[in-house]
Amino acid sequence: MADLFSLKKRVVLLTGASRGLGRDMALTLAAAGATVLCAGRTVKELEATARAIGRKGGKAEVTPLDITDEAAVREQVETIIRRHRRIDVLINNAGIIYRQDIVDTPTDTFRSVIETDLVAQFMLAREVGRHMLARQYGRIVNISSVMAILGRASVAGYVAAKHGLVGLTKNLAAEFGPHVTANAIAPGYIRTELNVALQQSKPFNAMLEQRTAAHRWGTPHDLRGPLLLLASDASAYMTGHTLVVDGGLTTILA
Ligand SMILES: NC(=O)c1ccc[n+]([C@@H]2O[C@H](COP(=O)([O-])OP(=O)(O)OC[C@H]3O[C@@H](n4cnc5c(N)ncnc54)[C@H](OP(=O)(O)O)[C@@H]3O)[C@@H](O)[C@H]2O)c1
Repeated sequence: MADLFSLKKRVVLLTGASRGLGRDMALTLAAAGATVLCAGRTVKELEATARAIGRKGGKAEVTPLDITDEAAVREQVETIIRRHRRIDVLINNAGIIYRQDIVDTPTDTFRSVIETDLVAQFMLAREVGRHMLARQYGRIVNISSVMAILGRASVAGYVAAKHGLVGLTKNLAAEFGPHVTANAIAPGYIRTELNVALQQSKPFNAMLEQRTAAHRWGTPHDLRGPLLLLASDASAYMTGHTLVVDGGLTTILA
C-alpha cells in the first residue's frame, strides 16, 4: 500500500521551500522518493533545505525564484523542463501575510498580498500546467488556509487571496482534467515564522486550545499525510477539493 503514496521518479516543484511548512514539505516529498526543486528567494536557506535532504539520501535542487516575477516564473519553468523534461507535481506553498485593519491598509499593501498569495499561484499553475497537460500527468497542490473558510480582523488581503485560491483550485480542476488534478490544503494554525505574533499572545493560545478538538497548535508534521495524499497517485480520483487540516477549528463550535 505504501507504493500508493510513493513519489519515486517524480519531479516536484515546491515554492517556499526555504523555511516553515515548505521546508518540512521538501523533506517529506524527498523521503517519498521525489526529486524536489526547492523554490524561493533566499538562496542560502534553500541550500540548507537541499543539504538536509541530501544528508538523508534524498534528491533536491535549489531553484531561485520570486514567484511574483512573471518573466522569472516563465524562465524557471522552461529551464526545469529543459533539464528534467517534466514537472510531475507543483506545490504552490509560498505565501505572505500582512496584519493591518482595513481602514489603515494602503491599496498597494492589499495588492501585494493578492499578488503573492493568488496571482503567483495562477501564473505557476498556468506555466507548469501547460507541460502537465501535454504529458497527460500532473498533480497541483495549492496551500490555502482556514482563512479560506473564515474571515478574521486585520488580515483582509490574506483572507481574500486564500478564498480566491480555493476558487482557482476548482477552476484548475475543471480545465485540467482528466489526467492533471488540482487540489488544495487548508491548514489551521501551524507554528512557523508566519504567526510568531499569535504564538506569543496568551489570549490567542487560550482561544486555539478551546476552539480546536485537538486542543493544540498544529505542527508541520501534521501536514505530511495530507500532502503525500494529494501529491501522489493515491488521490487520482480527487480534484478541485480543499482538504481542511485544522484540528477541528472550523468544524466545532466551542
Ligand atoms: N503557518 C500557518 O499556520 C499556516 C496556516 C495556513 C496556511 N499557511 C500557508 O502555508 C504557506 C507557508 O506558510 P509558512 O507558515 O511556512 O510561512 P513562512 O514560514 O513565512 O514561509 C513562507 C515561505 O514563502 C516564501 N515566499 C514568500 N514570498 C515569496 C516570493 N515572492 N517568492 C518566492 N517565495 C516566497 C518564503 O521564502 P523567501 O522569503 O525566502 O522567498 C518562505 O519560504 C503559506 O502559503 C501560508 O499562507 C500557513
